[in-house]
Order: sequence, then C-alpha cells, then structure tokens
Amino acid sequence: MRDQIVAGNWKMNNDQNQTQTLLNVLKNHKKPENVRVMVAPAFTQLSQSVTLLEEDMISVASQNVNAEASGAYTGEVSVDMLKGVGVSTVILGHSERRSLYHENNTSLADKVNTTIEAGMEIIFCFGEQLEERKSNRHFEVVKEQLSEALFHLSAEVWSQIVLAYEPVWAIGTGETASPAQAQEMHAFIRNLIQDHYTADLAQKVAILYGGSVKPGNAQEIFSMEDVDGGLIGGASLNAEDFMSIVNAF
Ligand code: 13P
Repeated sequence: MRDQIVAGNWKMNNDQNQTQTLLNVLKNHKKPENVRVMVAPAFTQLSQSVTLLEEDMISVASQNVNAEASGAYTGEVSVDMLKGVGVSTVILGHSERRSLYHENNTSLADKVNTTIEAGMEIIFCFGEQLEERKSNRHFEVVKEQLSEALFHLSAEVWSQIVLAYEPVWAIGTGETASPAQAQEMHAFIRNLIQDHYTADLAQKVAILYGGSVKPGNAQEIFSMEDVDGGLIGGASLNAEDFMSIVNAF
C-alpha cells in the first residue's frame, strides 16, 4: 500500500500572522489517519510552522534548497539549515522554479543528490508545458525530466522520493487535467520506473497530481488507480478547502 499524501505548496504567500492563523485552523481539524498531510510555507515561516505543528500530524516541507552545503551563495538556504529547524522534506523542480529561476534537469540532479545525501525526503515536481501537450510530446518531456534528474539514483534511496506530476498548463489556471489524463500519465511514469528499476519499486513510489486541484475535483482525481494524492497550490491557502481535499480519498 502506497502513502496517500496531500501537500500544500503555499508559494510566496502567508506572512507570520497569516501562517499562525491558517495553521491554528488546520490543527483543529480532524484528519484521516491514512493520509500524510504536509504544508510548505516560505523559508521565513518554516521554523514557526514546525513549532506550531509540533503535536500535530501535519508536517512541514520547504519549497526549495540550494545544492551546495554552505558558502558564498547570497540569498540561498542549505539542507543543514532546513534540518536545523526541523524540516525533513524539500519540494524540488517546481515549474515556477524551472521557468522563472532557470532550474533545469541538470541543476535539479545536483539538488536531488545533496538532498538525498542529507537524508531528506524530496517531492520532485515535473510536467509538460501546454505546447508540448498540444504537439503530443508530453510523454517524451516527462521521461526526459525524470531520467535526467532522478534515474541516476540507486533503487535504495527511492524511499526518499515522492513524485508530483504537475502539467504546467493546469497550474493556477483553473484548468485541471482530466482524471483520465492524470491516470494515463501516472501509469506511464510507473512504467518508466519499472523499466529502469523494478516492478516492486514502481508500485511503492507515491505519485501526486498537481494543477488546479480543488474541493470539487479532488475526489475524482484521487480515485484514479495511480494517483496517490495531490500537491495543492491556491486551494491550500484556505483551511476549509485544503481540509476538504485532505478528506477526498
Ligand atoms: P494550483 O493548485 O494553484 O494550480 O497550483 C498547483 C501547484 O503549483 C502546486 O505546486
């Protein structure tokens, strides 16, 4: 049985007070025992969030990390800094980081290596752009993203990896991949893992879907055989919406 996971990627939202308010509401909600729930606040709110959620089952992830251990990298944050405030999961490869901050499969492979070596968990994001889907290149693009950033890893460390398929055309647009489109891609991804590693490993890796998941569509998407949960942007900023998605399995 794979982990069922719902993670909220807050992006550059929620200051100190907003974080406190939102997390206090989330804490008071009853959560299903079989779902891992995570939130990913901004770097400045990580320490506060870990403290606030100390006795709760919600865990805290960061939205990024630098590939280097320390040094002259102005504005950057290292794996040890994250571990030092109690964060053990890192989101890597989000499409906004790829498009706005020039991350690519090669630089992401370095971040992946550093994060794995630090013993942390990765939520690895990838997905095709609209033009790539329109020209029927989405499978090829996803294969390349996974092969170049992850397939050098040994099978043993895949217990530290969660995948998040986020078609770029569905992020923040209100347009969602249909449950059938999500299932088709997730099954393709599982096959890639099976071909490169083993069927056993392919069955164990959790694959999340991200892109305009809302209370109204979460259940249908999560009911797909190869969809193990969601990475939620906009709807994770509202406690009722996020909790409704957490309870949508
Ligand atoms: P939305 O849910 O706002 O489309 O964002 C998805 C996302 O980017 C999660 O990482």
